[in-house]
Amino acid sequence: MTRAVIEEILPPGVRSAEAFDDLAPAPLFPEEAALMAGRRPRRQRQFATARACARRSLAELGVAPAPLLPGPGGAPLWPAGVVGSITHCDGYRAAVVARSAEVTALGIDAEPALPLPPGVLGLVASDQEREALERLSRRRPGLSWDRLLFSAKEAVYKAWFPSAGRWLGFADAEVRLGPAGTFTARLHPADPPPRAYTRFAGRWLMRGDLLVTAAVGVWAPEIQEASAGSP
Ligand SMILES: CC(C)(COP(=O)(O)OP(=O)(O)OC[C@H]1O[C@@H](n2cnc3c(N)ncnc32)[C@H](O)[C@@H]1OP(=O)(O)O)[C@@H](O)C(=O)NCCC(=O)NCCS
Repeated sequence: MTRAVIEEILPPGVRSAEAFDDLAPAPLFPEEAALMAGRRPRRQRQFATARACARRSLAELGVAPAPLLPGPGGAPLWPAGVVGSITHCDGYRAAVVARSAEVTALGIDAEPALPLPPGVLGLVASDQEREALERLSRRRPGLSWDRLLFSAKEAVYKAWFPSAGRWLGFADAEVRLGPAGTFTARLHPADPPPRAYTRFAGRWLMRGDLLVTAAVGVWAPEIQEASAGSP
């Protein structure tokens, strides 16, 4: 039996489900099937398996199955009172959910544990982040730290978007990876919406040929109030 991966890096209160293939037929609600009509079979399978994972994790929260459709910007429209996130990459699909009364904002990402393609790191990382990656690579060679930074930023973006409702560039987030499975992110977008999270705490894990990251919003009233222009 395959050991759970994403579960290892989630905070208390978060439910998860994952799949390592699309072999089990995953049924869709008519609204979801309509959305996937005409899409490539690979995307249909990926979407359906991710929905099956989402419904399994929602069931653990006591939420009945319902269509899970994308909202503006592609973020899933979770049922009221629920936060969550979905990821898929080759050989892996996962969904995580929690009660919004217990967990602020959630984002997960999965990537192959391989270096980023040439040229991508320059688009994703600041000079400071690149220097940190070099230090981490010296300390623990053999781990694709550049891909891990990318994944952490994707997880942060997925956690940020539902509260902010807008795009965030890679340069708008400074991510600090810890050598032993943690990270933090500070966002500094121009004019952030007052209710958007701008601090995130996360964890990462490498398991075999897979990297996974999970980010949770950290509510920092002094920062939120300052960005909203409060005295
Ligand atoms: C949206 C994005 C983060 C998805 O990441 P990805 O690695 O390409 O793909 P993943 O399989 O991991 O995730 C896809 C899932 O993300 C979710 N998603 C898509 N857009 C989203 C958004 N705006 N907010 C939250 N979740 C979103 C969806 O659930 C999607 O799966 P589904 O379409 O089957 O429901 C990525 O394509 C993107 O646009 N990145 C640029 C923005 C960014 O990361 N900025 C960094 C700021 S620090």
